[in-house]
Amino acid sequence: MNNIRTIYWEDNTVVMIDQKALPMEERYLTCSRYEEVIAAIRDMTIRGAPAIGIAAAMGIALGALHLEAKDDRAFRNAFNDICDQFAQARPTARNLFWAIEGMKACFETALTGKTGLKKVGSAQIDSSDVYAAIKQALIEEAIGIGNEDIAANRRIGLHGRFFIKNNDRILTHCNAGALATAGYGTALSVIRAACEEGKTVHVYVDETRPVLQGARLTAWELMKESISATLITDNAAGFLMQQGKIDLVIVGADRIAANGDTANKIGTYSLAVLAKEHGIPFYVAAPLSTFDLSIRQGKDIIIEERDGKEVAEFEGRRIAPYGIDVYNPAFDVTPYRYITAMITDAGIARPPFEENIKKLFPQKTAYDI
Ligand code: MRU
Repeated sequence: MNNIRTIYWEDNTVVMIDQKALPMEERYLTCSRYEEVIAAIRDMTIRGAPAIGIAAAMGIALGALHLEAKDDRAFRNAFNDICDQFAQARPTARNLFWAIEGMKACFETALTGKTGLKKVGSAQIDSSDVYAAIKQALIEEAIGIGNEDIAANRRIGLHGRFFIKNNDRILTHCNAGALATAGYGTALSVIRAACEEGKTVHVYVDETRPVLQGARLTAWELMKESISATLITDNAAGFLMQQGKIDLVIVGADRIAANGDTANKIGTYSLAVLAKEHGIPFYVAAPLSTFDLSIRQGKDIIIEERDGKEVAEFEGRRIAPYGIDVYNPAFDVTPYRYITAMITDAGIARPPFEENIKKLFPQKTAYDI
């Protein structure tokens, strides 16, 4: 089992592994102000849809902790303002917005019920005690979101491991591992679970231009656990499929629409089309918190565009001619028809996705997924 600690709450700070420094250096960033957490999400010190959501939850708790609450209205306004700032951090990962909704629901429940302090029976409750209790409830909620993510990822692994046969060669894209979540991963959870039950696998890791999450992060995670792996350029994936070297593809997701269209790291769509051409199963592994049933189809998913420097520079060194126009979408959308099955914490969804995804959501949760 991996012992990677992606993000955690410690002594009223948010601590996260600095994913920009990996794999060369394993260092941690300690955020004592919520603005530092927003900056870390933006600059991809922390990245991956579920990890971004957990960072937001903890960042919101951190921001609330330092609010000077005078009355309910002022407290709520200041709290909502912090939430709005987190919502601007990155647009595509559904988990960010899911976590913000969860924190808002927690806040309202705590404020309305004054976290049960009334039940103490004292007629003289100091309002600062009430607000301190609400802040504590928010911290516990954020920690709980992180813990639940690990549990959900474990369930993804348990459901998905049957798709992997002994000696399978698996292609994965980007990093959908422990680093992209609170721990254990989504796409990598399926691989981890298969290995944990004694199967031998070999993982081909797309380097994942331009930020190189595959080369830097997935390769690092797999090596840490001695899971056999080979790093390839993104451009080599089709050639490997043509050579019969890939048995299945597993990727994570940033947002999944109601019809199953899936936004994930740029390059995922090309892989899915190639997989179909070669008759290779293509699986998406994601927790329910990544599904956005309010969006009917993938074309309505907002795709983040990042700084052209990520493409035109390499580690701060210019590699393209100055003045060249650069287009740098961070994600693409894979239409549902290319996806063999979705592996979630609530079970497997197969086509027809529109119908079967709904069945994974027996009732609306408190987060109104
Ligand atoms: O830009 P990133 O690194 O945040 O993009 C991450 C991905 O696209 C992952 O594949 C996705 O979030 C799934 S992670 C469990």
